[in-house]
Formats: sequence, structure tokens, C-alpha cells
Amino acid sequence: IPDSSHPSLLTDMPLIAHRGAAMLAPENTIPAFDAAVELQADFLELDIQMSRDGALIVLHDATVDRTTNGTGAVKDLTLDQLRALDAGQKFHPAFRGTKLPTLDEVLTRYGGATGLLLELKVPSRYPGIEQKLSALLQQHRLHHADSKIIVQSFDIRSLQQFHHYAPDVPLAVLVKRGELLKDSQLLRYAAYADYINPKLQLVTPSLVERVHELGMKVAPWTAHAAQDIHHLTEMGVDAVITDTLSP
Ligand code: G3P
Ligand code: CA
Repeated sequence: IPDSSHPSLLTDMPLIAHRGAAMLAPENTIPAFDAAVELQADFLELDIQMSRDGALIVLHDATVDRTTNGTGAVKDLTLDQLRALDAGQKFHPAFRGTKLPTLDEVLTRYGGATGLLLELKVPSRYPGIEQKLSALLQQHRLHHADSKIIVQSFDIRSLQQFHHYAPDVPLAVLVKRGELLKDSQLLRYAAYADYINPKLQLVTPSLVERVHELGMKVAPWTAHAAQDIHHLTEMGVDAVITDTLSP
């Protein structure tokens, strides 16, 4: 992640917009991603699910119920059914008509220009999703180490599988429990991962130091305020996944 400047937050820390600028527009939609780009986010974080007919779609939950006007599991709905849903109205009527983005659309719109942190969300639900993601990145010529793409997951088996198909794409291990940050675990992650992305409460200066010694970087989640970003900066992290992009 390159150095950047965020004068509004008084930080040079590279910032990763969690689900886009989700406080300003419906999370994980084009308006949220555009708003994050406008606020000079270095990377957009987004979650990937797969439709019944195998299309990669950008949505946090396994069902469409919380954020759209539909119901049901993503894996039971076709791409056409998913694209017919309204993903904006529940956030605010001004966003009525906003669709669930496909990953293809997101790669076309932002790929190579703004960094993309792509989360494989409970990928064990979607057999074959790793190969599909790899193929889509190749189609967009974004499967290189310098393509400003990072793939992250809590599921290390899935990350390893993806690594098999796309060995040059940087990977991040998401961690929400302290026991998964023991040295023996860190040594294992270092064999394939480029980043350790822990829940921010798990970050300590010694953890950051050890991850750096092992040749990896640290991008914690999720900062909710400028104060979190400054605290993490003092501990030496490399980037911050944040809901806050402006004061
Ligand atoms: O980027 C890490 C973070 O997104 C993981 O939590 O639930 O927001 O996907 P969640
Ligand atoms: Ca996520």
C-alpha cells in the first residue's frame, strides 16, 4: 500500500474504506465506493458472495434481507434476481434504485486505479469461488503483485486454495481471536500471506513488530474514529480499515 495523505484526518496512514464510505451511502454499493474515492481512500474494502448461477456479487451478508428489498440466501438467487433488487432504499430513499454491484463491475470501475481489498466472506458456502475469483482477476489483468488487489478472508484454507490459482495476488489473513496470533500461527501464515489483519483490539506494538520481522504487514479493522487511527499509527501498523474517512 503506497504512502498517502489524508489532511482531513491529519494522517499519512493508508486508509481502507470499510464497505466503501458506508456512513454516507449504502454499504458495498457503487455510491459508497465512489464516495470513498472522493474522500481519497487508498483502498476500498468489500465482501464477495456468489449467486446460484455462479456470479460473484458484492454484499456483506449471506442473505439479501438486511440491506435490500428482497429476501433469501444469495446462493439460492440467480444473478438476474439479485440485480433486480433495490440495495439503496433501506439506507435512505435518496438511494432508491441502487443495485447490488457485481465484482466484475467493481473491477471495471476501480481496478488498477483505487486499491481493492476483496474479502472472501464464508467461502466454504460457495465451492469453487476461489477459482472463479482468480479467473475474473485474470480477465481484468489484475492478478499481478502490483495490481493494487489484496484478497482477505478469515478462512485460511480458502486463502491457500486461492493462492494456488493466483500465486502473485497478495493475501491477508483476517483474525478476530487472540489465540490465532500465537507465534506458531504467525509462522504458518508467513508461508503464503502478505498481511495479518486483526481486529483492532488485538493489536499491540510487539505483535506489529513480530509480523514485520516475518516479512508481513498489519492492517487492522475496524477504526470508527480518528482517535483509533492515531492510536494504531503509534503502534506501527501499515494501513487501517476504517469507517471514518473525514472528520
Ligand atoms: O475488513 C475486515 C472486516 O471487514 C471484517 O468484518 O464483518 O465487516 O466483514 P466484516
Ligand atoms: Ca469485510
